[in-house]
Amino acid sequence: MKVLVTGGAGFIGSHLVDAYLARGDEVVIVDDLSSGKEENINKRAKFYKMDIQDTSLANIFKEEKIELVNHHAAQLDVRKSVADPIFDARVNILGILNILENCRQFEVNKVIFASSGGVIYGECKDEPAGESFPAGPLSPYGVSKLASEYYLYYYGKTFALNYTVLRYGNVYGPRQDPYGEAGVVAIFSEKMLENNEINIFGDGKQMRDYVYVGDVVRASLSCMENGHNDIFNVGTGEAISVNSLFKEMKEVLDYKKDAIYKPARTGELFKSFLNVSKAEKVLNWKPEVNFSQGLEETTAWFRKT
Ligand SMILES: NC(=O)c1ccc[n+]([C@@H]2O[C@H](COP(=O)([O-])OP(=O)(O)OC[C@H]3O[C@@H](n4cnc5c(N)ncnc54)[C@H](O)[C@@H]3O)[C@@H](O)[C@H]2O)c1
Repeated sequence: MKVLVTGGAGFIGSHLVDAYLARGDEVVIVDDLSSGKEENINKRAKFYKMDIQDTSLANIFKEEKIELVNHHAAQLDVRKSVADPIFDARVNILGILNILENCRQFEVNKVIFASSGGVIYGECKDEPAGESFPAGPLSPYGVSKLASEYYLYYYGKTFALNYTVLRYGNVYGPRQDPYGEAGVVAIFSEKMLENNEINIFGDGKQMRDYVYVGDVVRASLSCMENGHNDIFNVGTGEAISVNSLFKEMKEVLDYKKDAIYKPARTGELFKSFLNVSKAEKVLNWKPEVNFSQGLEETTAWFRKT
């Protein structure tokens, strides 16, 4: 199959590219390298350095005869989306529209979309959020992910375009950028290995669902033929606090310093975790890498690089 991975030079996208190639698919990457890295690009894939908003994206769809699109290119910095919601909407909303218009015109079979369970749902209490949990995005980034899901729904209904939305928890693993805002595991790994100070915002009791990148990739592969025109959470169903994450990573990386606690960031959820039973049932997918294994893999990679 001919697969287009947008954001294929990024953290999750590059792992997806490797997995499609390993399955025997042909892979085309579109990435503007705004946060992605050249060293992440698999040499066996065909790479186009291009913004997803570019009108010449149509030439790629036309020439490459794309059958499946896995859309991972995005502006994903929550704080940047607050500071510049127009930029966020350009990349995330106009970007997906450009892709969907090409999918419609060139009769692509299916689109898989990387959404976010961490920013779409409101505050969770004792139960993890299922897919029908009320939406309550607290950032323009969350709004743009939700809007993208509605555009997919519209293209599905109106033009019979197949799609699957995957709402990820906090994805972590090798190749995650430690300098961004998103990946706390990557940020802590880098700082601990360089013996730098680590800041925790708030009291550190805020909880998130940390899912390993290899599991996320398997979720994408499992919805090639299944789960059409539907939405699935991709997480672990477990909520881990920043304090426990810090403690566990300290042991793995033999870091001796204490964290420095800073004032909480406004608009941050206290607890966010995902019920993944729908993906288990429909996609026959469930997370396989537990947090300790995932941390070992991730910190080993950061050590090596
Ligand atoms: N990392 C997470 O925890 C997480 C959680 C939920 C959802 N997601 C989603 O998964 C996707 C991938 O995230 P990631 O963590 O791998 O981030 P990443 O920054 O490593 O990857 C994003 C890629 O998109 C590229 N890109 C950005 N804007 C572009 C544009 N206008 N045109 C072309 N390419 C562009 C970047 O260069 C980068 O390679 C995103 O859609 C993100 O919203 C990530």
